[in-house]
Amino acid sequence: MASIKCKEIKKKARQISVIKFEDMDVEVENKSGLEMIGKGRQGAVFKINDQLCMKIYGEIEDCEREYYALSLGKNTPLLPKVHCKGENFVVMDMVYGVDLREYLQVNPLTKELSYKLIEMLLVFKEIGYERIDHHKRQIYLQHDGSLKVIDVGRTVWRNRTYPYPRKLLMSLGEDYKAVFLSHVKEAAPELYNEWEHYMQMEEISRQLFDKISSEKSIDSKSLGEKTTNLLTTNDTAKHYAQLENLVRKVVKEEKNRELEKQNEMEDQKKKAKQNEMKAQMKKAKKEEKNRESEKKNEMKAQKKKAKK
Ligand SMILES: Nc1ncnc2c1ncn2[C@@H]1O[C@H](COP(=O)(O)OP(=O)(O)OP(=O)(O)O)[C@@H](O)[C@H]1O
Ligand SMILES: [Mg+2]
Repeated sequence: MASIKCKEIKKKARQISVIKFEDMDVEVENKSGLEMIGKGRQGAVFKINDQLCMKIYGEIEDCEREYYALSLGKNTPLLPKVHCKGENFVVMDMVYGVDLREYLQVNPLTKELSYKLIEMLLVFKEIGYERIDHHKRQIYLQHDGSLKVIDVGRTVWRNRTYPYPRKLLMSLGEDYKAVFLSHVKEAAPELYNEWEHYMQMEEISRQLFDKISSEKSIDSKSLGEKTTNLLTTNDTAKHYAQLENLVRKVVKEEKNRELEKQNEMEDQKKKAKQNEMKAQMKKAKKEEKNRESEKKNEMKAQKKKAKK
C-alpha cells in the first residue's frame, strides 16, 4: 500500500457517517472537511487529494466485497489501486476521464470502443469475476484512451449471475446495443451467437410469462373440488390396497439395500481371502526357493570337499 498515512485517514473516516437504505442512495453526515465526490446505494466517495479518494460503505460486508473484488484486479490497469483499507472504507486511486453514459451522449460507439469493452469483459473473466457485466456509467474512458471501471463490489460473491453481459447491453440502450452487437458479431461470431441464444431464451421466457399471467385466473374453488378424484382414502378397500402397496414398496427397497450391503461385505470377505491365499502361496514359493538354494550351496560345498 502507498505511503499515505492510513491512520490519519482512519481518523477522517470516523468523522463521516454513512447509512444504507433499501433501494435508495446512502445518507451521509460528513464532519471530516473532505469533499464528497459521489454516492450510491452502497457508499459515498470522498476526495483525499488529486490522486486518492476514500469510499465509505454503509455496510461492512459491502466494504469487504468490493475490497476483495478490487484485490482480484490489483495487477490490471482496469481498476483503481487500493491504498488503505479500514473496517468500513477503502482508499483507492481517483478515477478521471468521462464515464460512458456521458461520453455516448455526444459520441458514437465506434468499433474501437466496442473492442475495448470486449477486452474489459475478458479481463473480468481472467481475474475471476463471477459477473462479467457492468453498467456503462461505471466505465470511464481515460484521457489516454484506456478504460477504467469503478464500483466492482457486485462482481463477486453472487448467487445470481448472467451468462452474458446483460447489464452492459441494457445500459447501452436499444440503438447502441445493436451497434455493439454488430461489432461483436464481426469480431467474435461465436460469442455473438452465444449471446443471441441467451437473449432469445430470455425473450421466450418473457413471452411465456406474459402468456401465463394473462390466462384468466384459475378458479381455485372448482379446482379444489376436482381434486377429490386424486383422493385415495375415501374407499376403504382401495385405501388399504394402496397402503399395502406403499409398505411393500418400502420393504422391497429396504431389502434391496440390505442385500446390496451383504453382497458388498461378501465381496470384501472374498477379496480378503484371495489376498490371504495369494500371500500364503507367495510365502510357500519363497520357502521352496530358499530350500533349493540351500541344497545347491550344500552340494557345492560337498563337491569342493571331495576335490580337496
Ligand atoms: N475511484 C473513484 N474515483 C473518482 N470518483 C469515484 C470513484 N469511485 C466512485 N466515484 C464516484 O462516486 C460515485 C459513487 O460511487 P460508487 O458507484 O462506487 O457507489 P455505490 O454506492 O457502490 O454505487 P451503486 O449504488 O451503483 O452500487 C460514482 O458514481 C463516482 O461518481
Ligand atoms: Mg456499488
